[in-house]
Amino acid sequence: METPPPWRVLEFYSGIGGMRYALASSGVRAEVVEAFDINDVANDVYEHNFGHRPCQGNIQTLTAGDLDKYQAHAWLLSPPCQPYTRQGLQKHSADARAFSFIKILNLMQNMSFPPQMLFVENVVGFEVSDTHDQLLAVLSTLNFNTQEFILSPLQFGVPYSRPRYFCLAKQESMCFPNSSVNDKLLRTPTCLTLNTTRTQNSYDQNEDDLEVVCNPIRNFLEAQSIGDKECSAIISDFKEADECTPIETASHDYTVPLNLIERWGNAMDIVYPESKRCCCFTKSYYCYVKGTGSVLVTSKNLKPVPKENLEMSSLNELGLRFFTPQRGRKFAFISPEFPFSGSHKPQTTVCHAG
Ligand SMILES: C[S@@+](CC[C@H](N)C(=O)[O-])C[C@H]1O[C@@H](n2cnc3c(N)ncnc32)[C@H](O)[C@@H]1O
Repeated sequence: METPPPWRVLEFYSGIGGMRYALASSGVRAEVVEAFDINDVANDVYEHNFGHRPCQGNIQTLTAGDLDKYQAHAWLLSPPCQPYTRQGLQKHSADARAFSFIKILNLMQNMSFPPQMLFVENVVGFEVSDTHDQLLAVLSTLNFNTQEFILSPLQFGVPYSRPRYFCLAKQESMCFPNSSVNDKLLRTPTCLTLNTTRTQNSYDQNEDDLEVVCNPIRNFLEAQSIGDKECSAIISDFKEADECTPIETASHDYTVPLNLIERWGNAMDIVYPESKRCCCFTKSYYCYVKGTGSVLVTSKNLKPVPKENLEMSSLNELGLRFFTPQRGRKFAFISPEFPFSGSHKPQTTVCHAG
């Protein structure tokens, strides 16, 4: 029997290409025929990573005709999350950053070759927004089935707490393997994975249970020394911050400076190589301490101690260091598919000059 051609895929809001990387690692026969992003720097990184420069511009200006010409089977979309984040104003569809997504949802209804499959990713909070209502309304008009999920890397054995909303949508003629969960929002990947054990995928997964089955951070660390020159090139780029928890002094490597520990140690999320969780890394990591990502204990043979039991004076002895981008890529991916780096040897660094 003749092998069908690979799916033609469009990647909207391509950023640095997380969706493309995930698609490739899923093993599906698919080809990203075009990617779209407005951000030049993200497009530089994408080009560096994949050898293809995304279409630079505002997705809001695309027409049905523009998209028809790709005759794509599947669309991957990770639209801006700011309209839906809990920390934001939660203006949802009234936020200008949501307009382009709503525009392409509407375009789908006017296309000669609309996609047969959609994959949408966003923050937790999207699922209760009016944009979400519009997404489901358009998909229903076009006779798609949907399966929705809120999933965290912890559920896949990766010690990283980052729950995200995902929507899978397929035209009715293309069945989901497990149609009993159509139109449902699930908080477990059970129905997606074939080789699962009950322990790893029970229906009532809460974060504490997941830590038990998660791999320790140690399993994801790389230890590698590189020259100070390359590291200092990165560190010197960190901007002086002027908000509540700035990193005032960057050391020559990724060691957390002692003065920072003394001043802000209580606000740090401290993890050990044996820990089975670290918190979500944000773009303010390295610039601010609180809520921006975890720091790693590098001193050897220390038993993990609950943060509340740590004396301020003993924080200095932990040999704290920042996590660093995955080697070999211009910028880091820190997501289910992208193990983070960080040495558990003091003064040993893994980084990549961007
Ligand atoms: C949540 S990020 C996507 C992250 C991406 N999945 C990745 O792996 O890096 C949203 C992306 O949408 C882009 N973006 C936001 N509004 C846009 C618009 N109106 N047109 C094109 N790109 C836009 C941003 O530049 C950003 O890269």
